[in-house]
Amino acid sequence: MRARIVATGSYVPEKVLTNFDLEKMVDTSDEWITERTGIKERRIASPQQATSDLAYEASISALKKAELRAEDIDLIVVATVTPDMLVPSAACILQMKLGAKNAVAFDINGACTGFLYALSVAEKFIRTGASKRALVIGAETLSRFTDWTDRSICVLLADGAGAVILEPTDKDEGIEVIDIFSDGTLWDFIHMPAGGSKMPVDENVLRERLNYIKMKGNETFKVAVKTLEEVVDATLKKGGIKSSQLSLLVPHQANIRIIQAMAKRLDLPLDKVMININKYGNTSAASIPIALDEAYESGKVKRGDYIMLAAFGAGLTWGAALIKW
Ligand code: UT7
Repeated sequence: MRARIVATGSYVPEKVLTNFDLEKMVDTSDEWITERTGIKERRIASPQQATSDLAYEASISALKKAELRAEDIDLIVVATVTPDMLVPSAACILQMKLGAKNAVAFDINGACTGFLYALSVAEKFIRTGASKRALVIGAETLSRFTDWTDRSICVLLADGAGAVILEPTDKDEGIEVIDIFSDGTLWDFIHMPAGGSKMPVDENVLRERLNYIKMKGNETFKVAVKTLEEVVDATLKKGGIKSSQLSLLVPHQANIRIIQAMAKRLDLPLDKVMININKYGNTSAASIPIALDEAYESGKVKRGDYIMLAAFGAGLTWGAALIKW
């Protein structure tokens, strides 16, 4: 038994924040952001929208495409580092909003690799028969945890959500390989110092701006390129195929230079790589399902195609999945 993606969906907030808007907020330029990251604009949630609201829209879109009702779902896994609140999970709030009364719902924090973590867990539920129909979502409202005075990070992060629905299949299709990894020794490469049990928010935290995400960008960049190349290579080997047999690589959208370096090392032409970082920035766990939905809707993904998903992020975490669509 394997798990197969039967539908995709995504949602991005209406508000567009361009590089030119950011030029008015911090000491940066459209030229620097475009050259160093590939980002031109990103989406920002409205004050009324929390992560579960973005996840809801993406879920409704996937359910409609699959012609399913929320009651048909028996498992909801939300990958997020920006839940509506610490307790309860964004997944439980989403379950309530959807009316998915037959589902068990929980969150997973795998940072930018979160969607692959959630997909890996849901895939195990499907393969063991514990779930017949799973809704897997990557959703983030990173704008709430972004220091809008810190040019090294505020030009990167953004909001959005993507969803997929998984069902079992006994055919030669679906998720062939999915592997996820962690290295906690490098936890401080990307982290948010305050707001958890170690450092609750107080006046000092607010003064020192410790309740926002910090990143050692350059160090992270170097590890990301090497690790992503290795994990995709290992996943191809495990799946018994060559990179030339891939129809599409859907990478986490963190930096266009990371994506290009990865494609080059894997000898993949850029037209076989899904890139939408220019429009949406880095939406962490949401970036792969948003890109996958766009790829499917634009006809880049067809039945029988080999698709590779790959991600890298805070933790550190990384992973890849080989899918026969
Ligand atoms: O999503 C999960 C994993 N995350 C990643 O994979 C992100 C990996 N890292 C990156 O994408 C890149 O390292 C960044 C885009 C974050 C930064 O690019 P970089 O080429 O590594 O720049 P840098 O941090 O080495 O900074 C180069 C210069 C510095 O100035 P000096 O010291 O050379 O004078 C920075 O102060 O660029 C400056 N700088 C900026 N200048 C204009 C940093 N941010 C900005 C900015 N606008 N927004």
